[in-house]
Amino acid sequence: MPRSLSGRSFLKLLDFTTEEIQYLLELSKDFKNLKRTNTPHKYLQGKNIVLLFEKTSTRTRCSFEVAGNDLGMGVTYLDPGSSQMGKKESLEDTAKVLGRMYDGIEYRGFDQQIVEDLAKYAGVPVWNGLTTDFHPTQMLADVLTIQENFGYYKGLTLVFMGDARNNVANSLMVVSAKLGINFVACGPKANMPEKKLVDICKKIAKENGCTITLTDDVKKGTKNADVIYTDIWVSMGEPDNIWEKRIKLLKPYQVNDAVMKNANPNAIFLHCLPSFHDLETTIGKDIYKKFGLKEMEVTDKVFRSKQSKVFDEAENRMHTIKAVMYATLK
Ligand code: CP
Ligand code: NVA
Repeated sequence: MPRSLSGRSFLKLLDFTTEEIQYLLELSKDFKNLKRTNTPHKYLQGKNIVLLFEKTSTRTRCSFEVAGNDLGMGVTYLDPGSSQMGKKESLEDTAKVLGRMYDGIEYRGFDQQIVEDLAKYAGVPVWNGLTTDFHPTQMLADVLTIQENFGYYKGLTLVFMGDARNNVANSLMVVSAKLGINFVACGPKANMPEKKLVDICKKIAKENGCTITLTDDVKKGTKNADVIYTDIWVSMGEPDNIWEKRIKLLKPYQVNDAVMKNANPNAIFLHCLPSFHDLETTIGKDIYKKFGLKEMEVTDKVFRSKQSKVFDEAENRMHTIKAVMYATLK
């Protein structure tokens, strides 16, 4: 058992030990069980949290709201247009004000430094709901889903396909290194994670008996994969005019039948979502008109296949976020 996480912020997984991450996963399982059995768990009654979103969200926002309500807390949501932060009031002042009113603060937005500074000034736990660099709450849901499918995660191989230097890929590399999962970044050389982070993760991976591999070769990269993971090709905050370039660069790394066949027979497919796997979105339709692509980072067939566990993964966001809030606020 790790020492208590009470009072800690959850900003990036590099700040947590292997044991602490394992503890949060165990706690998540307990909370999933409580939810599934309809057992009330208002363990944080009387507390209040605020959710500060500078980018849009479905899963993360809803997970924090439902988890907060289930734990008995009051929840305030501030959308990208309705707080003064950064416009009329400095981040430091906003953090100090929110810290006086709330027991915990969730932040989704841009630079990692923003969430780090919020935590520095707020005086209450701050949770990173996604920055340009990291998406740590997503990781707990992903590993929980892997564990539910295989019964374990240590020693498995996870391959991230595509934009391998985005927030999700960076975080997967970190969590894999921490938990003894072999991590492969499979994408074009131009979109590999930063060397500095790779070096840090390689060192951690060595301590935990696993490997970090970077490759632009799809066949080699996805061979022996237990988990194939991808994310959208253009992340929030990136300019729209980058789509054409990204499509050209990342099309060879689309997750399709050939990729899944090359992986282990019992491999699963994960995606943090949202996903462009059909033409049922306005952006998807727009891309089809401009570039003729009906599906992007993953084919509709793989997305809807038995190997795809994306909706279990999405549900697990809520159980794992609940565990993070409970562990840090109790
Ligand atoms: N995976 C994820 O963070 O989804 P949202 O952007 O909908 O929160
Ligand atoms: N990389 C994506 C993740 C969305 C959950 C983004 O930042 O938009």
